[in-house]
Amino acid sequence: MNPKKKIALITGASSGLGAAYARLLDREGLDELWLVARRADRLTKLAETLTTTCRCLPLDLAQETNLDVLEQALAAANCQIAYLVNAAGFGCIGLSRECSRKKLQEMVKLNALAAMGITEICIPLMTKGSIILEVASCAAFQPIPNLTVYAATKAFLLSYSRALHVELQDLGINVTAVCPFWIKDTEFVAKARETDKRQIYQDMPGATNAKHVAEKSLKAAKSGTAVCTPDTVSFLHRIITAIIPHRLLAQACKG
Ligand SMILES: NC(=O)c1ccc[n+]([C@@H]2O[C@H](COP(=O)([O-])OP(=O)(O)OC[C@H]3O[C@@H](n4cnc5c(N)ncnc54)[C@H](OP(=O)(O)O)[C@@H]3O)[C@@H](O)[C@H]2O)c1
Repeated sequence: MNPKKKIALITGASSGLGAAYARLLDREGLDELWLVARRADRLTKLAETLTTTCRCLPLDLAQETNLDVLEQALAAANCQIAYLVNAAGFGCIGLSRECSRKKLQEMVKLNALAAMGITEICIPLMTKGSIILEVASCAAFQPIPNLTVYAATKAFLLSYSRALHVELQDLGINVTAVCPFWIKDTEFVAKARETDKRQIYQDMPGATNAKHVAEKSLKAAKSGTAVCTPDTVSFLHRIITAIIPHRLLAQACKG
């Protein structure tokens, strides 16, 4: 029987942080990179710049049936997953009652349900030394008005990741929740602002960049870190939210 292919699976690879992880994992000597997002053209363009063989999977991960498609493709591939990066996600800035319910539900499906579902699909295909990066956000650390549902999805992902980190310790698989502050060079903010009717969002001092977050968090994951705050603001946010009651912090964020 042929030896199993060693692969990395990266969701959200068509842009921003996911693409930055793909560029980093291109240097890991893997047999294949599996790149997942909806925009096929963007995945193909990225694949053309990488040296590792890429498999592009243009899938809408908010559709549950596409998780079955992914599961079947993995089962047919005789592969071992060395890295899983769940970076696909989006946010909506503004009062939740001013965002469409469908969009809010889609956010939960993508940021929370799909990330969890893909992780569960991948775990049986992992071995000792495999790494899971769940891209959450420092929004996971507290309830945030005007980012209500987004922060809740990331809180789910953070809690799930932290428990999984412990569950998988005996198998030698590391799970790292990545919790950055705003990142300025991705498409995230522009998309999240589409619902920002009151123009609440302002450019944030301390915003970081995708390459930095990907590099710092991959290094942290390799050293077994459970929760990575890759920039100064997210680091301080984590400390503050461990000390100050969340009802007070939520009020302070009301704007
Ligand atoms: N940027 C920030 O300030 C920031 C801060 C903290 C955490 N994060 C988190 O970082 C992660 C990456 O975001 P980013 O900043 O790199 O933003 P981005 O540039 O907008 O990238 C988001 C990625 O998610 C993919 N995606 C969106 N909807 C999808 C769907 N239904 N099915 C499959 N893929 C989908 C997009 O690809 P397609 O459109 O091609 O599908 C894209 O590749 C997200 O989880 C975000 O919550 C971002």
